[in-house]
Amino acid sequence: MTNILIATHNLNKRKEIKTLLKDFSNIKVLSLDDIKIDPPRIVEDGKTFRQNAVKKAVITSQFVDGLVLADDSGLVLDILGGKPGVRSARFARKHATDIENNKKLLKLLEKMDGEKRAAKFVCHITLATKGKLLENFEGVIWGMITKKGRGQNGFGYDPIFVPDGYNKTFAQMTAAYKNKISHRALALKQLKEHIQKYIN
Ligand code: IMP
Repeated sequence: MTNILIATHNLNKRKEIKTLLKDFSNIKVLSLDDIKIDPPRIVEDGKTFRQNAVKKAVITSQFVDGLVLADDSGLVLDILGGKPGVRSARFARKHATDIENNKKLLKLLEKMDGEKRAAKFVCHITLATKGKLLENFEGVIWGMITKKGRGQNGFGYDPIFVPDGYNKTFAQMTAAYKNKISHRALALKQLKEHIQKYIN
């Protein structure tokens, strides 16, 4: 049996990853709330999602046995030079609400139409053990930023993001459906394809 610790206190992420790895009877998925050791709080000060995910996974893996998985994600717009990017959660200000972040983005795009509103969600996942990086996985989904928020589900920028090939925003989709097509689902799919080699 191999333990995988998900370096997050986020319940939704833990649930999603647990569901995805349930076919592996030899993997036990744990989260920071399940272990007695409290690894140091890691400052997410990287310039890229990858830097943040690697830092979280590698540092946490120095304090626990088995595999550690960490992720970092956010929204990227070419027209804004990559913003909100790694600052997606605190785009409007430190501890900003989702509504404030969405409002700020819609304001910046106020006079922009068509392709200028193109955006992608990125999710980077890093697997590490004993302070060593094992592998990185990245999922990306492209879409458009709407003119107004639509839908009640999800979180973050979901009400203003319509993935390419769809008419609905992420917030108008059920969680189950979003979790099949999202950037996080795509990164986790890759992880699932590659994880076998790290399991005893
Ligand atoms: P983190 O990966 O939990 O640090 O997420 C960073 C921020 O990116 C979140 O607070 C959201 O603002 C944004 N974000 C990441 N993934 C999603 C998503 O699936 N939907 C909407 N917003 C997201």
